[in-house]
Amino acid sequence: MTTPHDHPRDWWQRPGLEARGGRLLVAGRDAEALARECGTPLFVYDLTHIEENVRALQGAMAHTGLPWKVRWALKSQREPAVLARIRRLGEPGTPEFVGLDVCSPGEVEHGLAHGFPADEISYTGTNVSDRDLDVMLEHGVHMNLDLISQIHRYGRRDRGGTIGLRINPRVSAARPESGISYYSGDAPTKFGIYPERLDEALAAARSHDLTVDTIHFHVSHHLLNDDLPAFERAVAAAAAMARRAIGAGCPVREINAGGGLAAVMRQGQRPLDLDAYAGVLAEHLGALGVTIACEPGEMFCKNAAVLLAEVVTVEDRSRAGDGSAVFAGLTCGWNAMNLAFVYKELVETVLCRAADAPRTAVYTLTSHINEGPDIFAEDYPLPPLEEGDIVALLGVGSYCQANWNVHCLRPFPEVLWFSERHTI
Ligand SMILES: Cc1ncc(COP(=O)(O)O)c(C=O)c1O
Repeated sequence: MTTPHDHPRDWWQRPGLEARGGRLLVAGRDAEALARECGTPLFVYDLTHIEENVRALQGAMAHTGLPWKVRWALKSQREPAVLARIRRLGEPGTPEFVGLDVCSPGEVEHGLAHGFPADEISYTGTNVSDRDLDVMLEHGVHMNLDLISQIHRYGRRDRGGTIGLRINPRVSAARPESGISYYSGDAPTKFGIYPERLDEALAAARSHDLTVDTIHFHVSHHLLNDDLPAFERAVAAAAAMARRAIGAGCPVREINAGGGLAAVMRQGQRPLDLDAYAGVLAEHLGALGVTIACEPGEMFCKNAAVLLAEVVTVEDRSRAGDGSAVFAGLTCGWNAMNLAFVYKELVETVLCRAADAPRTAVYTLTSHINEGPDIFAEDYPLPPLEEGDIVALLGVGSYCQANWNVHCLRPFPEVLWFSERHTI
């Protein structure tokens, strides 16, 4: 494993998250002091970072000169403080207003309850039941349907209505090592209409007098610059399917490229060039005269939060006592930070009192949940730890709080939301 000290500045340092005099600062506040004051586990959010990320993607989409729309994948992060921050970025009905991508009736109702108008909410989910459809239709939310049986199910309830189709071009931009092939790619997945069944899907829509006004695809996961050629192949394949739908008479007004944009997670990764990303979409979809939409989650908010935990145990667990298996036990578990246990991601961890010190020791970082595989990292380099230290697990702003549970009756962590950064 490479240590973060191969490079002069650790990858994670940015305005709002930095080592100053050796100490970790989050939104300009001393991370260890926050943990001592509020207790652990403690989530700390830098809301300014979220706004910066949203504005950066909006800017890149606007640079294409084409009609665009950016939505927020609610499944990644649904907290009211975050939604309030993004809602104020524009007026509803304008491109700058951040719409919502939702995937369940509960998310529709959450979005409406937090001030997002129904026509700023786009549903794309799978295996929708009749009950789900009833709720969505009651609220008048636009739905992208991804299975032929769902088109019929929808059509029976809303004859003459308007829908989108989620397509699956069978081409993926996800790196094989990401282990994520279940969105698009060779293997059958639960998502999207395949090219060979597009005509059947369009016929199903016609049979219920449904108008298909949107084409949706989601073909990437942790998309970085190096993945852009693969992304371009997938977008080209999706564009070919969209052209077929338009050629068949569908008045397509929007093509939605889903999410799957990466937040940088480790040393050596370069952030996705958002102009290049938007450029790929413009190149392949621009001639179709549609609004180009996307709906990331992770890229917006993953690196906007850290989880502060106390080191309660430092113990050599190796057979010969040779120090090769020193376990460091933390006051948090997969119920609060599931990225390792559920998503198999290595989460960067920083010692708050010595945030940029040389990482001369190696630890297995473990949780306080009684599940053997609930381990954050193995052979993980850190400065030497002491019991009572505070560490920060980085990159926990998406798909963590949204998935919290009370396994082992461990309560939810406390949360701090900082809307402004302190300058020191
Ligand atoms: C349809 C759809 N849109 C958007 C997203 C958000 O993805 P990400 O958080 O990787 O950007 C997902 C994630 O699974 C998705 O399935």
